[in-house]
Amino acid sequence: MPDLPIGFGLLGAGLVAPFHAKALSNSSKGKLIAVADVDAERARKLAEEFGCKAYGSLEDLLADPAVECVNVLTPNAYHYDAVIAAAQAGRHVLVEKPPAMSLRETDSMIATCAEHAVKLGIVLQCRVRKPIQAMKQALAEGRFGRPLMCSAHMKWFRSIEYYQSDAWRSSRKSGAGVTIQHAFHYLDLCQYLMGPAKRVLARMENLAHPEVSLEDTLVATIDWENGGMGLVEASTALWPGTDLRIELNGVDGTAIMVGERMDTWKLREDQPQDEEISQYGSASVGTAATGPADFAFFDHQVVIDDMAAAIVEDREPCIPAASVRPTLEMALAMYLSAKEGRPVDLPLETEKGIFE
Ligand SMILES: NC(=O)c1ccc[n+]([C@@H]2O[C@H](COP(=O)([O-])OP(=O)(O)OC[C@H]3O[C@@H](n4cnc5c(N)ncnc54)[C@H](O)[C@@H]3O)[C@@H](O)[C@H]2O)c1
Repeated sequence: MPDLPIGFGLLGAGLVAPFHAKALSNSSKGKLIAVADVDAERARKLAEEFGCKAYGSLEDLLADPAVECVNVLTPNAYHYDAVIAAAQAGRHVLVEKPPAMSLRETDSMIATCAEHAVKLGIVLQCRVRKPIQAMKQALAEGRFGRPLMCSAHMKWFRSIEYYQSDAWRSSRKSGAGVTIQHAFHYLDLCQYLMGPAKRVLARMENLAHPEVSLEDTLVATIDWENGGMGLVEASTALWPGTDLRIELNGVDGTAIMVGERMDTWKLREDQPQDEEISQYGSASVGTAATGPADFAFFDHQVVIDDMAAAIVEDREPCIPAASVRPTLEMALAMYLSAKEGRPVDLPLETEKGIFE
């Protein structure tokens, strides 16, 4: 059985990598061993900043016996190959969202990790925010009564320079698009709270980035399996960008998270902890509304620390891949709905051709 601290290796030294590196520098449970990138100069720079080794490929990273867990931080469409290779090399894997671009790949990742007895965790760090955890717990305790609505409103801004900063950011095939990329976090929060969707109806448009052929805006309705409804508005076209809102309504209460703080917490039957819960979070913490790196690393740290503990305790990580599969299925159903201009029922009959 491995001991703490667990040795982590980062695959990909781009935008999100410093958030992982900072979390690991701050952690007593994980230790940053190395960073690898096909762009060797990027890997070298990050390694120099954080005092770890630099490699030019996943193969080199996997050849380092001190690396016990690989954090996959490559563009979305490249997650699958890296996860499979790391698992086959006996490494635990923590992969950035979305897990992969298809359910077939996600299922194969889950099966391969199980076969090689390694953990597979997903970085969807918004799940660990205190307002979301409070909503999840109160739902489980029945305090909201019957859930009626859960909606996400993400009115963000990304400049055209962001979309053009790397080829994959404007390539549907590589995993770009506001639905699968930015809004995935908030589709996931709604799914985490409400359970799976049974029907979606979506429209996708490019409102303000005509230079790239991608949706920068999603508007969708969701029928949840639990009988509730939902609305998603998600955009990177809306300057200057305002804090996202997650709104949860049940027969017996309403909770709203804005950014990372609890904005509204009102349940019919008060409990002593409600005063503290209603104060959770802070308006001064960025949550990426106005720019891609405008957020804090501490939610990542919770997920990374948990992954290290899950490895040592031989348990599932806090965000297992299987718990994210329904979010991916819902996002894929939205792409199909927008493409065909009709409501789409879940489970999906086929995922072939959705991105073509
Ligand atoms: N959790 C979050 O809040 C959050 C925020 C930003 C990005 N992300 C996710 O992180 C991942 C990376 O996004 P990013 O914005 O950092 O991208 P990025 O383009 O800034 O960085 C990706 C890096 O991966 C490298 N790379 C590409 N293919 C590789 C390969 N086969 N082997 C090794 N290195 C390779 C690139 O050279 C690049 O340096 C994406 O999955 C994205 O969805 C998550």
